[in-house]
Amino acid sequence: MNFRTITILTGAGISAESGLGTFRDEGGLWSRYSLKEVATPEGFAADPHKVHGFYNARRANAAEALPNAAHHAIARLQEDPRHDTMVITQNVDRLHEAAGSRALHMHGELARALCAVCGHRWDAPAEMAPGDACPACATTATRPDVVWFGEMPYHLPEIDQRLARTDLFVAIGTSGQVHPAAGFVEEAWMHGAHCVEINLEPSEIAGLFHETVNGPASEAVPLWVDRLIG
Ligand code: OAD
Repeated sequence: MNFRTITILTGAGISAESGLGTFRDEGGLWSRYSLKEVATPEGFAADPHKVHGFYNARRANAAEALPNAAHHAIARLQEDPRHDTMVITQNVDRLHEAAGSRALHMHGELARALCAVCGHRWDAPAEMAPGDACPACATTATRPDVVWFGEMPYHLPEIDQRLARTDLFVAIGTSGQVHPAAGFVEEAWMHGAHCVEINLEPSEIAGLFHETVNGPASEAVPLWVDRLIG
């Protein structure tokens, strides 16, 4: 099959072997922290110290992590001139960029800060705190530039347009439990794309894909890229 336009959606599973925890696997982040307390606007309003503490710790972990063979394989595919490959990630780490890829961060980035009042964005310091002032408007309403539950993910118009014209859609290391990303496979399928899931084990939405490949991303993704581009 000739797949000129390729769209890859990644989730926490692609970064698991780089030492960054997933959310819903056994021992995952949402078994140790309350999602409502640390990943909603209401949680931030109730206890900004706790929320900054959670993201400061994740930022420190992410800063030490290195991309694995799956991130590198995707970067190799993105460099291949025979294909037009877009990477959309739900991850807030920068491991795709560290491997040399360009990625749309639909759930934001740990390494960026956002002013909740004027919308200015800048590189986050290692430690953020509730009293930090926005460098543009000086208001002390700064927050991590990550998308919380109940907020609109980034880049959705561009992603919708892309899913309508992609030949191949591949979801890697994502449980398919969080919308809108979980619905991308149906959108791509509806527009005629071939859909592949690469995951440690079949996700709850594995049946929505034409093809599933199971195994650790650091092994399964390079093999799959090799098959595609040799
Ligand atoms: P999840 O933790 O929900 O799912 C991770 C998936 O990766 C699971 O299906 C695992 O089986 C799989 N997995 C684990 N290790 C793997 C490995 N080595 N190789 C391949 N697959 C592996 O994470 P996401 O689907 O990314 O959003 O979660 C989606 C969103 O929910 C996140 O972006 C975050 C979270 O709450 C927000 O915070 C807004």
